[in-house]
Amino acid sequence: MQHTSSTQTIPTDSGIPRHVAIIMDGNGRWATNRFLPRVAGHAKGVEMVREVVEACALRGVEYLTLFAFSSENWRRPADEVSVLMRLFMTALEREVAKMHANGIRLKVVGDLARFDARLQQMIASAERRTANNTTLTVTICANYGGRWDIMQAIQKMTLAHPGETSFTEDQLERHLAMAYAPEPDLFIRTGGEERISNFLLWQLAYTELYFTDTFWPDFNASELDQAIASFGNRERRFGRTSAQLVESKKAS
Ligand code: IPE
Ligand code: IPE
Ligand code: MG
Repeated sequence: MQHTSSTQTIPTDSGIPRHVAIIMDGNGRWATNRFLPRVAGHAKGVEMVREVVEACALRGVEYLTLFAFSSENWRRPADEVSVLMRLFMTALEREVAKMHANGIRLKVVGDLARFDARLQQMIASAERRTANNTTLTVTICANYGGRWDIMQAIQKMTLAHPGETSFTEDQLERHLAMAYAPEPDLFIRTGGEERISNFLLWQLAYTELYFTDTFWPDFNASELDQAIASFGNRERRFGRTSAQLVESKKAS
């Protein structure tokens, strides 16, 4: 399904975000604060994914997008990278059946070619199995970078239109890795940093940003509710004035 772009048409607004995108940050510091190895934070982080996925489904969120591994995370020590890959595989093994039973569609986006063949196969089979589910779409961004996404979209777009030199935003959007989802309404970053770290650069144009100091392993359903409550208090003007917004609400 093609979704409208926030820069081309003014989106309709409701109190519950249709699409929540999260940078799950702070696993390492959570563990270090407890004198545990960083991996313990990543393991606990996986548990919180389960809780937040369930909470989103219950609250009627339609798309949940989770940044699990960035294109820059390869810069980490090799042993931490390999632990993260193993955790990803075990989480897929353990969780996919349950997600499927709960009507969840799973997508994994990013430059997956760099992952080992078995992980790629597991991803493909999990996506196939859950493809027709409609309750909630959970997207895991793995070896994902916003710049990678824009570049691969440009490459696909130009290949699809040989000889053309002029393109619209709409044409580019169709080739972004998450073309199946609307732009995020609410962006959450846990762990205290206030930056985008090469997440969904194109799609965050009009997303409401929410930053919390809570480390990801402590981010539970009630923390999610606080973020959604904050979202509910925002005035999303999409370039208009406040008075225009009041008028348009009266009219509808
Ligand atoms: C987020 O937690 C998980 C990944 C990036 C894979 P971190 O591992 O970045 O935790 P901090 O930021 O070092 O605390
Ligand atoms: C962003 O967290 C990526 C993920 C959560 C997967 P990082 O911990 O890698 O971000 P920086 O390095 O602090 O910007
Ligand atoms: Mg971090």
